[in-house]
Amino acid sequence: MLRRALLGLSRSDKIKNLVVRLPVTSGVVARFVAGETVEDVVSATRRLVGAGLAVTIDHLGEDTLDRTQAERVTAAYLELLSRLDESALTRSAEVSLKLSAVGRALSQDGEKIALDNARRICQAADAAKTTVTLDMEDHTTTDSTLAVLSELRADFPDTGAVLQAYLHRTEADCRDLSGAGSRVRLCKGAYKEPESVAFQEPAEVDKSYVRCLKVLMAGRGYPMVATHDPRLIPIAQDLARRNRRMLDSWELQMLYGIRPTEQQRLATQGHTVRVYVPYGTDWYGYLVRRLAERPANLTFFARSLLSK
Ligand code: FDA
Repeated sequence: MLRRALLGLSRSDKIKNLVVRLPVTSGVVARFVAGETVEDVVSATRRLVGAGLAVTIDHLGEDTLDRTQAERVTAAYLELLSRLDESALTRSAEVSLKLSAVGRALSQDGEKIALDNARRICQAADAAKTTVTLDMEDHTTTDSTLAVLSELRADFPDTGAVLQAYLHRTEADCRDLSGAGSRVRLCKGAYKEPESVAFQEPAEVDKSYVRCLKVLMAGRGYPMVATHDPRLIPIAQDLARRNRRMLDSWELQMLYGIRPTEQQRLATQGHTVRVYVPYGTDWYGYLVRRLAERPANLTFFARSLLSK
């Protein structure tokens, strides 16, 4: 209930104007966001990789409404990839991309512009010997994201997808994307979705997550298990064992700032643990989704606002 209410409330301009005045260095923002600049994220990546973790980096931004902004975000990704390459970090660090950040929502030819920009980012990632994973946004964009994925995979077969266990359709999407060479990041899903398309009860979402995991683990692709859930992680480990998967044929993923001790513990056991690291000035939507996931974080958030 609270999660849905918060996701709804986050659309209020009044609330947004209050929150975006927080500096990125304030406690609650800094916990979930690595900083605003490419230097900030490269240094966070260096630290995580030095601690034995892998990384996927998201340049924050999801409401791109004009071409100049789409171009700016694309340029930011190209610069990021070049900096990761220069810093010899591309063996352990890839990038995550929201198609809405590179133009999909533009009224004219949005999907084509997003595909062209994503292709340029995939080219740069390929040249730097790393990969791109397409984030999944709300359900109205799922078909479009999967269509763009399929175009990109024709030239860049390593391009990854994100599937959201809360959608009724996802078990079937997992089946479609469980073939050799397919990289699928399975998460629960972070948007406010209607009953007609998504499970509403956390227990139903968890059951769907397990069904999807079974499909991915039994398939020939590379499952990326993106969850902090202490019950789902051992289930993933068990399914990997039953499907005789080696540790290098799947990985665990968590968000920057969430359960860092557990990230480290799993990496020490020999798992690839990839941390999703967001950076940039446009952190509002991302922060609200993190707060909505865990009401306990709200106290921390309120303290940051009061001490401003
Ligand atoms: P759940 O929310 O049930 O949490 C399980 C436990 O994890 C909690 O009990 C708590 O211990 C801990 N925890 C979870 N969230 C926390 C928080 N914010 N603060 C502190 N502790 C917390 N979503 C999407 O719609 N599209 C996408 O492209 C992506 N991409 C993505 C990439 C990666 C690498 C991850 C890990 C997640 C995403 N997500 C996402 C977000 C995802 O859908 C989901 O909202 C969050 O991962 C939280 O779900 P959990 O599986 O952790 O379970």
